[in-house]
Amino acid sequence: MCGIFGYLGYQEAQPLIIDGLTSLAYRGYDSAGIAVLSRGGALGVRKAAGKIDNLIEAATKSPLSGRLGIGHTRWATHGEPSEVNAHPHLDGTGSIVVVHNGILENYGELKARLIANGHVFSSVTDTEVIPHLIQEFVAEGLSFAEAVRIAAGQLRGAHAIACLHADHPEEMVTFRVGNAGGVAIGHGQGGMFIASDMPALTPHTTSVTPLEPGELAIITPERYDVMTLDGKSVDANRVTIAVNATSAAKGGYKHFMLKEVMEQPEVAMSVLRGRLSFEPGEVALDLPFTDQEIKDLNRVIFIGMGTSSHACQIGAQVIERLARIAASAENSAEFRYRDPVVDKHTLVVAVAQSGETADTLEAMDRAHRSGARTITITNTEGSQAYRRAEGAILIHAGQEVGVASSKTFVNSIIAMQLLAIRLARTRGTLSTAAATEYIEALSHLPALLGEALNINGNSFQRLAVKYARSRRFLFIGRGLLEPIAREGALKLKEISYIHAEGMSAAELKHGPIALVDRETPVIALAPLNDLYEKMLSNIAQVRARDGQVIGITSVGNHEFTGLVDDVLLIPEAPLLLEPMVATIPVQLLAYHLADLLGNDVDQPRNLAKSVVVE
Ligand code: AGP
Repeated sequence: MCGIFGYLGYQEAQPLIIDGLTSLAYRGYDSAGIAVLSRGGALGVRKAAGKIDNLIEAATKSPLSGRLGIGHTRWATHGEPSEVNAHPHLDGTGSIVVVHNGILENYGELKARLIANGHVFSSVTDTEVIPHLIQEFVAEGLSFAEAVRIAAGQLRGAHAIACLHADHPEEMVTFRVGNAGGVAIGHGQGGMFIASDMPALTPHTTSVTPLEPGELAIITPERYDVMTLDGKSVDANRVTIAVNATSAAKGGYKHFMLKEVMEQPEVAMSVLRGRLSFEPGEVALDLPFTDQEIKDLNRVIFIGMGTSSHACQIGAQVIERLARIAASAENSAEFRYRDPVVDKHTLVVAVAQSGETADTLEAMDRAHRSGARTITITNTEGSQAYRRAEGAILIHAGQEVGVASSKTFVNSIIAMQLLAIRLARTRGTLSTAAATEYIEALSHLPALLGEALNINGNSFQRLAVKYARSRRFLFIGRGLLEPIAREGALKLKEISYIHAEGMSAAELKHGPIALVDRETPVIALAPLNDLYEKMLSNIAQVRARDGQVIGITSVGNHEFTGLVDDVLLIPEAPLLLEPMVATIPVQLLAYHLADLLGNDVDQPRNLAKSVVVE
């Protein structure tokens, strides 16, 4: 959840590290800090609680000069987000400095041991234990890198860590234990970089060496050596990463999230581009399986967290409908611990826009160990999910800066539909004519998304004013729109801090209807589809209890106005495309409510873009 950036070379380190942290701020933004080793051999540290701007202010007032440094942007796990708890953390001698991403599970035990040995701590973080531990091994006579390696072996949990020693001005040591987010070495012209994520490296280099779990790198301005935590040398290759062409600028919008919602028609084209084949009824999607292996599949399990898990719920429904394989969607964190029955005839599809979500990576490992086949649907080429899966379907949504996912959700669903067609065609469960019709419909999806963005004029701003004082919302939908109800509720919670629940409209009467009153608006997803009549019954049940209903229906449904309190429209769309089209109004409603309430829409409180801790 935290971002790490480091530099060692021939330029001033501070500005490079600050820029790197700024591009990693989506990973955590409750405090930040940097440490730079001066030419005279003194470690200087600047830290600030709050957003990265506070660190920039502190470091501008009192700059650090030197060519070696590390920085960190934090999402607090142990200890409140304060200056003293912000990273980097030093050992007691002030010569070893560490930045850390992860949770040190045995920190209590290690800290007690270190205190007994005379160490004094200034923060309440688990991280501060690490430089003290390294210092014990240095004091025993080990080289700095060796001390780091031995200390790494004593850390329980999952970690990505970088460290410096004031007596080693030409050396930076970084390592990974388990899945707490990645760390990659960037091979620049004027020196070497390390970063938690690729977007922080691409301004400097596209030549990178990502570390695998259990690897440690010793980096100098000119070279790098990678070894396992057992001390065995590793031949770690450089790979070339693509520079993301999508500019991370707001493009005139007030927030990145609004920009990212508005660009969905365009990014939908990107995920479809090159995949809608000219062959009748075919999609061009490379999968790492033979046709026979696809025919032999008897189960598909989608795994993901948060918004990606909502996309998974749609993916499972679409696969069952088209490819006629039993399919389900599971929360990765539960999947990994519940001893699932999977085998070589099970396809596990890991969905993660970041490709770094710890629970999803662990669930992928769990699937591998059971012999399941795996692919990932991700926005991040080169991410850990991308590297671990047998194959990947990149969703090409461009960088998503807003912490609340929007365009990556819609593009993940589109990717799942391409996957469903591909599996269905190979298994012979979708005729050429039906597939051709479906593909034709998909090619019109960007236009439908564009219509969905414009069709309601300024209704969202009006509804935001009308409902801004509501402290609870319910979202209801059926079939493919039930996950959209859940996603709408999640979006609202994340950015407006208003409590919301999303559910099957059918579930409402089994308990949640007790919440319905005049102060609890119900958002009902009710386009003109085969479940429309059912939705009308549920809407009537809400209104009979004095509930207010904001109904989302298809353009042209004139009867709806009299049946609900407020109407939002979506263009008519084929059933399988309704989830993408119906996502737009729930995103915009959440956005305008949050904006009206004056919230930090792009970096909502307590959240982070990549959740790399359990
Ligand atoms: C989305 O708005 C959330 N910020 C969050 O639920 C997110 O979808 C989840 O953490 C999974 O992330 P991933 O897609 O990168 O795995």
